[in-house]
This record gives sequence, C-alpha cells and structure tokens, in this order.
Amino acid sequence: MNTVTEIAPVITAANEALRRDFPLKPFAIRHKLAGHPLLSLPRIAQLAAELPRDLIEYNSGKVAISQDPDAIASVDLDPVEVVKSIETAGAWMVLKRVENSPEYRRLLEDTLLSVARARGFNSLLDAGFEQVEGFLFVSSPNSTTPFHLDSEDNFFVHIHGEKFFTIFDNKDRAIVSDDEIERSMTRHRNLKYDERFAPRGTEFHLFAGDGCYVPYQWPHWVRTADSYSISMAITWKTREVRRLNDLHFFNSMLRGIGLPQPAAAGYAAGARCAETRVLSHRDHGDQTLARVAGDAPRVAQDSAGQRRELLSEGGVRRA
Ligand SMILES: [Fe+2]
Repeated sequence: MNTVTEIAPVITAANEALRRDFPLKPFAIRHKLAGHPLLSLPRIAQLAAELPRDLIEYNSGKVAISQDPDAIASVDLDPVEVVKSIETAGAWMVLKRVENSPEYRRLLEDTLLSVARARGFNSLLDAGFEQVEGFLFVSSPNSTTPFHLDSEDNFFVHIHGEKFFTIFDNKDRAIVSDDEIERSMTRHRNLKYDERFAPRGTEFHLFAGDGCYVPYQWPHWVRTADSYSISMAITWKTREVRRLNDLHFFNSMLRGIGLPQPAAAGYAAGARCAETRVLSHRDHGDQTLARVAGDAPRVAQDSAGQRRELLSEGGVRRA
C-alpha cells in the first residue's frame, strides 16, 4: 500500500470536518480535480469506449425524483456518442468501477491518500479506505438522479457545471424504512420520495471544485442546472461497512420469510463502532444479529439474560 509522503492535499474541508464529522455526517468539501485530464469529456469518451458495456449505465435525464425504475426512458445512442453529445443528448450516464483503469485507480487512491494524511494516517489501509472504487457521472443540462442510497462511503467531487445535491439523515425512518433500505440493496437503488421530505434535506450547491462527503446509506437525490455536468464518486468500504451490508442482506432474507430483526436497521444506521454494536446485541438479546456482524461479540446474552456462545461463521455473502 502506498504511503502519503509525496501526496499534496487534494480534498479539503472547512471547520476540521475531516476530523470532526467524518464518517458520520455529510459536509462540504473543496478539491483540486476540476480540470484534470482524466476527467475531461474527450478522455471520458475514450473510457466509455474501453469499459465493458455492463459497467456503463445510461438513460434519459428527464426522470422524477421518485422514479419507478421500470419506467425510465432510454437514450438511443451508443455510450461514446452519449458522452460526446452530452450537452444536447438529454441523458444521464454513469461509468462504473473506473478503478479498473490503472490511471483512474491512481487518481482515486492519491485523492484518498490526501484525506488519510489530513486525518493523521500514513496509508489508505491505516485510514480504512479499502475496496476503493470510482463512479463517473456525465449528465445533460436539467437532468435528475432519482432519490436513492448507496451502501458505501463516498467523496462526491464535482468537476464541471452546476449541480444541486440534496441529502437526508439515514437514521430518519420516516424518510426511508428498514424494508426500503434492504430493497434498495437487493433489488433497485431507487427510493420513494415525498415532497414533504424536502424541509429535512440538506442541499449542497456545487460548482467545479466543490463536492461533499456522503456517509454510508444517507439517501440523496441530485439535479443539474442549465449546463452539462461531470462528477465523480470516490467510494470505499471499510470492514465495518462490509459487515453492515452483510447484516442488511441477511435481514432481507429473514424479512422474506417473515422474521425481520427489528434491531438491524437502527444498528446499521447509527452504529459505527464495535462497542455500540456489542451494546446493540446485548440490548436486544439477539444472537442472529451478533453472529452476522461477525467481529466483537462471540458471546451474547439471550432474552433470559443467559450468556451464550455464538457461532463464529455467519455464512452470509458479501454485499
Ligand atoms: Fe448516489
């Protein structure tokens, strides 16, 4: 793993947010990636020609905030043409897993290394930046990304144009229920949106060089203004996030047979440290959740207060 000795700060944030709010709350960032050659339209068009087709998703940008995924209009162009004509194509596109290209991987890792150093760590691994992945978004003017959530942490960097990024607290079950969170992971990412949610949102108004930190599973929707837009999501999954994803998948299976565990979602939303997880298991006397979470509790109390050994293997696949 690289060390950070020669990496200049790429991402910065005001008010010590990288130390104070990370990783629990969203906050505005500034970055130095706008104008980078890898993030220009011609280079992105080249990337669209190189990437496997199943890593490119695009459709009409004229969609609702609360969008039925089965009713989205397509765009009748090939991916390279979409990028080249993005000013007029009326399209929204994402190029996924751009870290498969070594140049893009280096860009993602260097950016996160600068954050690692700002937080006092000497490497990506020490800072918990594992499974680093990149997602490049190219959108036509006045396009919408429907309300959804992502099951990883993310620095969202805005490269070109003007964009509005509205985000909601993932602990607010009046906005997204436990069931919907699991469905967004197992079926489609889009969530139902109600205009009554609007006052509870935080809006980041982004221009080139701006961005925001998007914590694990905080619901959000995005719209572009009157110019085409380029942005990139720099994502990673800590060990803890991978365990929380396992927990959600397992609870989804239990829900499917009528046995959802009530502790699961609150646990996933609020607990970002092992101690809190242990308390959660003990409070609920829930051996299943403790087993899926995987690390700290090898012993938990059941509902009668008896200490019981837990199985060490949950047998749950990774998200
Ligand atoms: Fe997202």
